[in-house]
Amino acid sequence: MRRLLIAGNWKMNMKLESAKELAQGLKEAAKDVSEVDIAICPPSLYVEPVGQVVAGSNIGLGAQNGYFEKAGAFTGELEMAMLTDVGCQYVILGHSERRHIMGESSELVNQKVRAALAAGLTPIVCVGELLSERESGVTNDVNRRQFDGSFSGVSAEDMKKCVIAYEPVWAIGTGKVATPEQAQEVHEFLRGLIADRYGQEVADVVRIQYGGSVKAGNAKELLSKPDIDGALVGGASLKVDAFMGIINAVR
Ligand code: 13P
Repeated sequence: MRRLLIAGNWKMNMKLESAKELAQGLKEAAKDVSEVDIAICPPSLYVEPVGQVVAGSNIGLGAQNGYFEKAGAFTGELEMAMLTDVGCQYVILGHSERRHIMGESSELVNQKVRAALAAGLTPIVCVGELLSERESGVTNDVNRRQFDGSFSGVSAEDMKKCVIAYEPVWAIGTGKVATPEQAQEVHEFLRGLIADRYGQEVADVVRIQYGGSVKAGNAKELLSKPDIDGALVGGASLKVDAFMGIINAVR
């Protein structure tokens, strides 16, 4: 049985005090939750102070990005070992905002995925098609290309440690959520790809989250689908009640 993972991607939101307050509020509200895994991914600068707030609780800590190189002359970047150093267990990689706004390629995402695994982090690797790609019927091709590019050279043992987030770009921050059937179709496709590349035993343990306008009102229906193993939540992770509403809906 795969445990559900509900992760909050705070993106470029909050300030130091509001970030710590949100973490404190979640820690209190989620203290009795044992049925699902929970994680929060604050902006890099706030990972450490937020980590201090949730230390020792059932809330995991993640970053939203990391670089693949070891310490050195890489102005503005963060080494994966710096993330573990301040308590991160997870790192989001290949988010569509990084692929499409910052121009990250699957090759770069792949280097980051391998560096994250080498550092002992759980990468949450995002894939997902644009609206134009869905409308022109190439959804599976796009997700297959992003999957193969992002996991190239990753061993079966390491693949088991990864989390995949299927985030259709047209559903992110738009309020337009994929139907449970649309999401399940792609999740099943992705699990089939894992089985094809790594074998069924690996495919059975890898968690595939859905992301894109997840809210308390649609979470249960989405996550009741057999291949949807959690949610990567943007907007609704920024308020205790909204995030807890999702967690409580799927417990
Ligand atoms: P929203 O939940 O705001 O649509 O964002 C989804 C997302 O991009 C999570 O990584």
